[in-house]
Amino acid sequence: MRVLVTGGAGYIGSHTCIELLKDGHVPVVVDNFCNSKPEALRRVRELSGQDFPVHDLDVRDREGLRKIFLQEKPEAVIHFAGLKAVGESVAQPWRYYDNNLVSTLVLVEVMQEAGCRQLVFSSSATVYGMPDQVPLHESAPLRAINPYGRSKLMIEDMLRDLVQAEPSWRIALLRYFNPVGAHESGRIGEDPNGIPNNLMPFISQVAVGRLPRLRIFGGDYDTPDGTGVRDYLHVVDLALGHVRALDWLAQATQGGATAINLGTGQGHSVLEMVAAFEAASARAIPCDIVPRRPGDAASCYADTALAEKLLGWKAQRGIADMCRDAWRWQSQNPQGYV
Ligand code: NAD
Ligand code: WQD
Repeated sequence: MRVLVTGGAGYIGSHTCIELLKDGHVPVVVDNFCNSKPEALRRVRELSGQDFPVHDLDVRDREGLRKIFLQEKPEAVIHFAGLKAVGESVAQPWRYYDNNLVSTLVLVEVMQEAGCRQLVFSSSATVYGMPDQVPLHESAPLRAINPYGRSKLMIEDMLRDLVQAEPSWRIALLRYFNPVGAHESGRIGEDPNGIPNNLMPFISQVAVGRLPRLRIFGGDYDTPDGTGVRDYLHVVDLALGHVRALDWLAQATQGGATAINLGTGQGHSVLEMVAAFEAASARAIPCDIVPRRPGDAASCYADTALAEKLLGWKAQRGIADMCRDAWRWQSQNPQGYV
């Protein structure tokens, strides 16, 4: 199947392109490279031994997107393109709403015109905000607590409204937990701009000597060791979840917009992740426990039963694999793609 992949040069998108190609699909990438580099796609070609179309375009460019649909005739779309940094979204909310909402509005409009009505959307566990209880089931209350999270929740709501009005649309709203790790080749991985906000890239950069120490945000949570607990998910498992979601949509006998958690269902603390990374890299990660980061929950992990039931998908890789692959990527590419 020809699959339009918006944001296909990014962290999750590049890994998904590899799994799509492996499964016999053709990814058609649309990316404006605002948070990624063409080198990632060059390496996807190198790893897969296959070529595929890439369009340097902002998804908000309606005319440009129309032309791509006419030329490439995709049967389904995976919509990764978006801005994703929580802190930046608080400082620049309009940039986030404009990029994330308008890109989705334009994309859906162009898909509608082209008669392409199968969409996999990158949502996030961030739509649950501060959880009342874990594991988080898809029916848990939705209450995003920052502009980034609200942009995801608004898009989910827009897509649910679309399906109410146009029941032939088939949409998977995939709520990712914490994607980490890299392709096992060490050729592609996460390459954040500036100082990382997220735990795993921060640990990796300490291990490789780019950053001096890790600050652990809070040691007094109500968790087994006092540090925050999250559901870390290997990015290759996440990529495979997208391929399964496409298969599921293609076979669906009726339309709908279905939210599905993608996580492992296991929670791991910051200290556990540090220990796993030290073991994988044979490097010490110097760290200090500092006050909590505002907006952080103590514990957040997924109920994964729905993904298993609907998609037949279950994460296979554990935190030792995640740390091993993240370290291989970081140690072989200490400055990322540059
Ligand atoms: P990323 O920044 O690496 O990838 C996003 C890609 O989209 C980049 O290549 C960027 O250049 C592109 N892009 C952004 N706006 C665009 C636009 N208007 N037009 C064309 N291209 C555009 O991020 P990622 O980690 O791969 O995340 C992919 C998606 O998954 C995002 O929507 C993100 O919000 C969501 N998500 C990510 C995480 C995470 O922790 N990484 C967790 C949950 C959800
Ligand atoms: C994980 C744990 C921190 C950095 C974020 C977004 C969420 C989603 C995934 C996109 C927490 C602790 C972190 C550090 C630390 N993204 N930590 N020191 O906050 O669970 O989720 O990324 O949708 O929307 O909010 O991930 O990696 O930032 O933090 O101690 O330098 O690591 O307190 O317990 P988070 P994270």
